Amino acid sequence: AANLLRHVDSMTTLPSGAGKISRLNAVILGESLASEEDDLVIPCPDFSSKAHVPSPDKYLEMYQRSIEDPAGFWSDIAATQFYWKQKWGKSVYSENLDIRKGRINIEWFKGGITNISYNCLDANIAAGNGEKIAIYWEGNDLGVDASLTYNQLLHRVCQLANYLKDIGIRKGDAVLIYLPMLMELPIAMLACARIGAVHSVVFAGFSSEALVQRIMDCKPKVVITCNAVRRGPKTINLKDIVDTALAESSRNGSLVDVCLTYANDSALKKESTKWVEGRDIWWQDVVPKYPTTCDVEWVDAEDPLFLLYTSGSTGKPKGVLHTTGGYMVYTATTFKYAFDYKPSDIYWCTADCGWITGHSYVTYGPLLNGATVVVFEGAPNYPDSGRCWDIVDKYKVSIFYTAPTLVRSLMREGDEHVTRYSRKSLRVLGSVGEPINPSAWRWFFNVVGDSRCPISDTWWQTETGGFMITPLPGAWPQKPGSATFPFFGVQPVIVDEKGVEIEGECSGYLCVKNSWPGAFRTLYGDHERYETTYFSAFPGYYFSGDGCSRDKDGYHWLTGRVDDVINVSGHRIGTAEVESALVSHPQCSEAAVVGVEHEVKGQGIYAFVTLVEGVPYSEDLRKSLILTVRKQIGAFAAPDRIHWAPGLPKTRSGKIMRRILRKIASRQLDELGDISTLADPGVVDQLIELADC
Ligand code: WTA
Repeated sequence: AANLLRHVDSMTTLPSGAGKISRLNAVILGESLASEEDDLVIPCPDFSSKAHVPSPDKYLEMYQRSIEDPAGFWSDIAATQFYWKQKWGKSVYSENLDIRKGRINIEWFKGGITNISYNCLDANIAAGNGEKIAIYWEGNDLGVDASLTYNQLLHRVCQLANYLKDIGIRKGDAVLIYLPMLMELPIAMLACARIGAVHSVVFAGFSSEALVQRIMDCKPKVVITCNAVRRGPKTINLKDIVDTALAESSRNGSLVDVCLTYANDSALKKESTKWVEGRDIWWQDVVPKYPTTCDVEWVDAEDPLFLLYTSGSTGKPKGVLHTTGGYMVYTATTFKYAFDYKPSDIYWCTADCGWITGHSYVTYGPLLNGATVVVFEGAPNYPDSGRCWDIVDKYKVSIFYTAPTLVRSLMREGDEHVTRYSRKSLRVLGSVGEPINPSAWRWFFNVVGDSRCPISDTWWQTETGGFMITPLPGAWPQKPGSATFPFFGVQPVIVDEKGVEIEGECSGYLCVKNSWPGAFRTLYGDHERYETTYFSAFPGYYFSGDGCSRDKDGYHWLTGRVDDVINVSGHRIGTAEVESALVSHPQCSEAAVVGVEHEVKGQGIYAFVTLVEGVPYSEDLRKSLILTVRKQIGAFAAPDRIHWAPGLPKTRSGKIMRRILRKIASRQLDELGDISTLADPGVVDQLIELADC
């Protein structure tokens, strides 16, 4: 207790308009808690003493420097921890985030020449880590596994890089990757980066139509995929999806020359795979024949590294573009501090490389640190709900990073699936994708982590490249459900509807005041949309699209999206995308989609559907509407509920009042508010009547 108190006494004022961390002593002395805000989990002194950031004081000192002298802070890290063929020019960064002052522009380490694949592989090997395991791969089915050392990973990457060069892929060319979580996925990303090609990974749960949309936008010459994948008890024939997409995109004028297909024998035999002669090539037939060394294409820090499509409030997905140098420095540094990474750690992130989390924290961040990463092909509840902990014990995983939806679904299955495994290797836990509710946090902390492992609840986005607001394990007490404080160099602000910054205890819209190295630089091919979507709502700031409150102790509490984007099982989806899929159904005349609270998924998809005049409601039609969404976007975007709507609540100018739909969807019928401004207030009663149809 004396130790704890000493530790707590050392706490001082935290940034972002924070007050003192007060009431800590009261908590330790066992006084009852007034509210969630007062619920503090004090780090174990033994953990803190060994942590990279052992105390609030140390954090404050580093944070302050990062804000007062960003150039000095980041260039020290960049210069000492990464290999640069040539150092950057005069200024470490230049930025304009103020739309009133002209074009939005962010650059870090411009003029610096480097390569991220070199820094992930060759640099670690040069530092003596060649024989260290880079990737442990765990297959879907028990007993199917593999591993690669850093040396072996480099060889594989070089062979593929040589092949890509040989078929004419050059610096700046787009390569589309549509692969499940095989080792070949990070290999493909690193091979592209090695030759300066721009990868665009599409999550293998997206449908062929979603794939077409992305192919049409970035026009790759080559698509890298596999024939099929096993997920849980199912086999998914990816090649069929790609075939359909490639046929469609070539009809629309975007011809893909080569479809490099990895033969995933355990899922589907080569002989049973459909084949387009002249376009399709088996990976195993060509790639292993190439040399295991490949010269690096040295690129500018501001040369593009990858494109990743993400959902926004309008229908078309946006190609978020990240460049090389800043992203490299930022993902590596955030990984190191937010997980208190040490070379002896074994790290497992359950995200798929098809999302940003898999880019920054399965592939680049960990490998840049020379970490050993577990890559898991399968489903977390297959063959049973203990699979995650089986994997944790098998590989002695010490850092486990996942999404709240998985935590909640495992929590429902019962503690015994967890407690029958040892889990004693675990040291740090992490959460991402949506706010983690305090009860799920507690279960994760108490049951999974045996009340021993701090939880890094990392708030960030595809656009931010890396963590923005996150605990640093061991640095300060945690509050279950709060992402705590900003990472080094990040200045979050909370603004009101007018864009005025609010100080102290408050809630409002979460913005960021300045640039950070990992920030996205543009939306591919549409800089104007970049400026209007992110920098126009609140001039002078980057607007995240999230709501946030800050409590009396300065802790940040994310409250979810304030735009028309929803987070379903940690997957980001625009309501407009689902609507446009629904209205493509010949019998649907109009659709409005809102998010509703969902016990496991966080948010569920709730769709109000108006049918074409004269078409009757039916169960078959409901199924066929859902199928349409699955086909156009992917299974993860299928609506949880279809609510028949003879009409939608619209203002006289024709705008759908989603506020009312949200209330109806969540059955908060006494909170509908003022409906007198509707063109036809009668539709509300009709909708309520049909609520249980
Ligand atoms: C949400 C995923 C609360 C948020 C990395 C954000 C979170 C969106 C958290 C980005 C968190 C992510 N707490 N909300 N720890 N992490 N979000 O682009 O709404 O797929 O805007 O990036 O997820 O989703 P994206």
